Parts: sequence; C-alpha cells; structure tokens
Amino acid sequence: MRAGLLAGRPRGQLVVDAEGLTKRFGATLALDGFDLAVPEGTVCGLLGPNGAGKSTAVRILSTLLRPDGGHASVAGFDVLRDPMQVRYRVGLAGQHPAVDGVLTGRENLEMFARFYRLGPAAARRRASELIEQFDLAEAAGRRPKGYSGGMRRRLDLAISFIMAPPVLFLDEPTTGMDPGHRLEVWKGVRALVAEGATVLLTTHYLDEADQLADSITVIDHGRAIARGAPEELKSALGGDRIDVLVSEPGDVPEVARLLAEVTGDSPEIHEDTRWVGVAADDRVATLARVARALDEHGLAVRDIVLRRPTLDEVFVQVTKDVRP
Ligand SMILES: Nc1ncnc2c1ncn2[C@@H]1O[C@H](COP(=O)(O)OP(=O)(O)O)[C@@H](O)[C@H]1O
Ligand SMILES: [Mg+2]
Repeated sequence: MRAGLLAGRPRGQLVVDAEGLTKRFGATLALDGFDLAVPEGTVCGLLGPNGAGKSTAVRILSTLLRPDGGHASVAGFDVLRDPMQVRYRVGLAGQHPAVDGVLTGRENLEMFARFYRLGPAAARRRASELIEQFDLAEAAGRRPKGYSGGMRRRLDLAISFIMAPPVLFLDEPTTGMDPGHRLEVWKGVRALVAEGATVLLTTHYLDEADQLADSITVIDHGRAIARGAPEELKSALGGDRIDVLVSEPGDVPEVARLLAEVTGDSPEIHEDTRWVGVAADDRVATLARVARALDEHGLAVRDIVLRRPTLDEVFVQVTKDVRP
C-alpha cells in the first residue's frame, strides 16, 4: 500500500460508511477488511480488476449479502440491524438484470412504479419519461426475452431510476453498451446527483470514473488500495508525463534511449505510432531537458506534449504495487 493514498476520511455526512468488511466464500477471501466512505450528494467510483470484490461489496451494502465481519451503514442505517430501512432508500442496478420475462418493457416499468406506490397515471407518466431517457422505445412494446444485452441493461437501469432513490448503487452500469448509450446513462446519473442523490458506481471503464466520480476507491484482493479524487490520484502517482512524437520511424529507439537517460524512467514505446512516453517529475524543467537533449543529438520530433497521467496509468501503477 502506498503511503498517502489512503490518508484521511472524507468530510461531510457519509451516506455509505463501511469499515473492515470481510466476506469469505469457501477458500476465497472476497473482502479482506474493506473500507469505504461516500459523502452525501457525491459519486464514488469503485475501481478494481475482475474478482477484486466490487460486486461483493455492493451486495453487502444493499443488504443482499451478510458480511462475515466489519460493519457498514447506508443512509445512516446499519445494513445488518436495519436492512429494511436501507432497502427503502437504495436503488440497485445489478450486473445481471433480472427483469420479468412475461411483461413488456413498458409493463415492467409500470409494474415497478406501482410497486413503489405510484398511482396508475403517475406510473404511466414515469414509465414514458424513462423510456425516452433510456432510448427504450423499441423495447417498450416487447418482452425482455428478445432484447439485446444493451437494451436489457438499459431497462434494468431505468427500473433502478424509477423512484429517484436517494442512494443508488450501479454495478458496472454501462458494460457492453455502445458509446451513445453510455453518454445517456452518464447524463441520467448526473441528473440524479443534481437532485441530491448519492451514487456508488463500480466500473471497468476508467474514463467513466474520470467523467462521473467525485472520489475513487481502488479495490484489489478485497482491500481498498487507493482513494481520492481522480485528480488527486493522478497527482499522487508519478505526476505528469511527456510524450514525444518522433518524425522518423527509424529514430524511435534512439529517442527512447535518450529519454531514458535524461529522465531515469523506462520509456513507454509505441513503435507503430512513433510515440515515446516518460515520466516528467519536474514538469517544465524535464520538458526543457528533453527538448535540449533531442536538439543536441539532431533528432527531429513532430510534437512534444506535457500532460497529466490518465486514470488508466494510475490504475496500472497502484494495482502493480500490490501484485506479486
Ligand atoms: N457466491 C459466490 N460464491 C463463491 N465465490 C464467490 C461468490 N461471489 C463472489 N465470489 C468470489 O469472490 C471474489 C470477488 O468477487 P466479486 O465481488 O464478484 O468481484 P468483482 O465484482 O470485483 O469482479 C471472486 O474471487 C469471486 O470468484
Ligand atoms: Mg462484479
């Protein structure tokens, strides 16, 4: 674990507050002392490789699964002592949507809206809004059996949005969705947050976390290994980067060797696109040294870019640190 990456608990009222959660499935320790804190009215992105324990955490927080140890409260209610109070306040969109196979998309939405005590007219209205918002016109008159994966997932999400719940858990909400629909889901999440909702979102897509999350918790092997705002994580880890676009394909190895010498970092080399990247810990000073060295060696470059690391680079780095 890196010092500084897990320091401090967030300020403000915590809507999700979990400490030391453990969960074992046979020989697998799915959660191993997992901590999570999500302040009210924010989006928390839970990032981690496959099998890291994300869904297990979401299932415990939504009272579908009992932890073996630790404790957690959601919206101020303990998940073990007051599960019903938690359920009243949480909307959950699962990774494996279980939407009713007999009803059409619209009937599904209306049924859930009635279940949440909307009157018949209000239920119809809400169903129509969600059909529009999630681009479900095609699905509205058909049964889920014939849906594409993306359509099924959008219906599942629409159902979780019905009551604009104060707390929303989204487990990989846009996996397998095309980019247009992902944008629609992001818009929907932002709209709920603007109305005061608190969202916990697990995702494989780092750009999704970067776009939506106020804070990010990285989980691996059932433990939180890094936590912070996306920008904080990017600053804390390795700092900025320099990318050099080499003019002549034949010069790529020589430029890479020179960048390694100047920065002491091992460069990332993309032969096919002629980009070479290195860490730029001293930012502009490093940039100046790199430019001077290239010039002195008569190496022509087409572009030099000083930039922040992407969340992908941060992620690779933190998970590498804890893996053997
Ligand atoms: N019901 C279960 N029975 C047995 N093992 C499980 C069960 N649910 C999860 N696991 C195991 O626990 C670990 C964490 O799983 P999960 O929380 O689904 O990870 P993630 O959602 O991050 O991919 C994995 O090794 C997974 O195989
Ligand atoms: Mg999962």
